[in-house]
Amino acid sequence: METFSDLPRAERIELAPGYNVSRVINGCWQLSDGHALDAPIDFDDVMHAFFELIEHGFTTFDCGDIYTGVEEFLGTLVTRLKRGEGPVCADDIQIHTKYVPDLDILANVTFKHTESIIDRSLRRLNRDTLDLVQFHWWDYSVPGYIEVAHDLLKLKEKGKIRNIGVTNFDAPHLKEIVDAGVPIVSCQSQYSLFDRRPELALSSYCESAGIKHVCYGTLAGGLLAKRWEGVGTITPETRSQVKYLQVLEDSVGYEGYQKLLELLEEIAAHYGVGVSHIATKYILGRPSVACTIVGVRNSRHVADNCKIFGFELSPEDDAAITAFLDGYPRLQGDCYTLERESPRYKGIIHMNVNEEEQGGNDALAGE
Ligand SMILES: NC(=O)c1ccc[n+]([C@@H]2O[C@H](COP(=O)([O-])OP(=O)(O)OC[C@H]3O[C@@H](n4cnc5c(N)ncnc54)[C@H](OP(=O)(O)O)[C@@H]3O)[C@@H](O)[C@H]2O)c1
Repeated sequence: METFSDLPRAERIELAPGYNVSRVINGCWQLSDGHALDAPIDFDDVMHAFFELIEHGFTTFDCGDIYTGVEEFLGTLVTRLKRGEGPVCADDIQIHTKYVPDLDILANVTFKHTESIIDRSLRRLNRDTLDLVQFHWWDYSVPGYIEVAHDLLKLKEKGKIRNIGVTNFDAPHLKEIVDAGVPIVSCQSQYSLFDRRPELALSSYCESAGIKHVCYGTLAGGLLAKRWEGVGTITPETRSQVKYLQVLEDSVGYEGYQKLLELLEEIAAHYGVGVSHIATKYILGRPSVACTIVGVRNSRHVADNCKIFGFELSPEDDAAITAFLDGYPRLQGDCYTLERESPRYKGIIHMNVNEEEQGGNDALAGE
């Protein structure tokens, strides 16, 4: 009988020279205040899940300065590892955070403000250096993103940041930052069976520029799972599902969704795995993709998700999924354009979380 210790370990990849991460990253947006719409998070169970994931080589975590309470929770994990309570040392895990200046202050972001937010992340995470800071800019029409990216470079030179990445940039704006001389190691964007917008331009740009593509939404907040087969009306259980239901509606639609689940289930049966494994494996198999992020909000899926690394998707099955998706509309525009421009998409995004929920603009107030 297969035991927990027999399960495959996570594959690893070099995100930057000398910097290795697990190819499936533990996503922590799910742990932020207000994310769960169904039941409260059991944080003891989540800590248990983290220890088990680390033990199986899933050593990399994704969070953000605007994920309320999450950097602090990961700081507790770091403290426990420093005390020798976990399966590895604190230096053997990687924590990726984000720097997301509020929409309302974009025009006035100063170096002092940026440094104060980075210092806050360092304090919350109980780290001396941030492994990766992924920079986000809500509105390209407000100038300043290149200057702020350079400020992050200054903080890298001061030793506060090890690597700089971006999130939710499209190809032309990412290229602008790279051409301005900021060494970007990774780009995080949504990429899933419902959302293939990276294939328009971002994937090929990342490949040509040597930037590692890190993807979220691979499981569409858990909607890409067998439990939804035959379910007519879906009541979202998380904010993540609210978002991905829109993406589903605008791509395969509800009828196509059920057919897709059937196809994935049929393919999964060849390998003795589940729908979610095939959804993840398909995205991990795209040429630009270094890592996918899979959200964790309990210990329920830990053993199951180790199986992602226990099989390879055949070229025939991969092609069958692509052929199926090609029969449906693609989400419009470049990466994150809908989220920036469409009222329907913009309406569900919180763009001023640093100030509203976290008192993050103390430094700016004094400017
Ligand atoms: N940069 C950005 O703007 C951005 C945006 C969104 C997300 N992210 C990052 O990406 C991470 C992932 O978030 P996401 O919203 O895209 O969610 P996701 O990873 O697509 O879905 C996560 C959910 O899938 C379910 N799940 C996990 N493993 C499963 C399995 N084996 N079988 C069935 N269901 C499974 C779990 O739901 P249950 O526990 O309910 O079963 C889990 O909460 C976030 O935590 C965050 O780090 C970044």
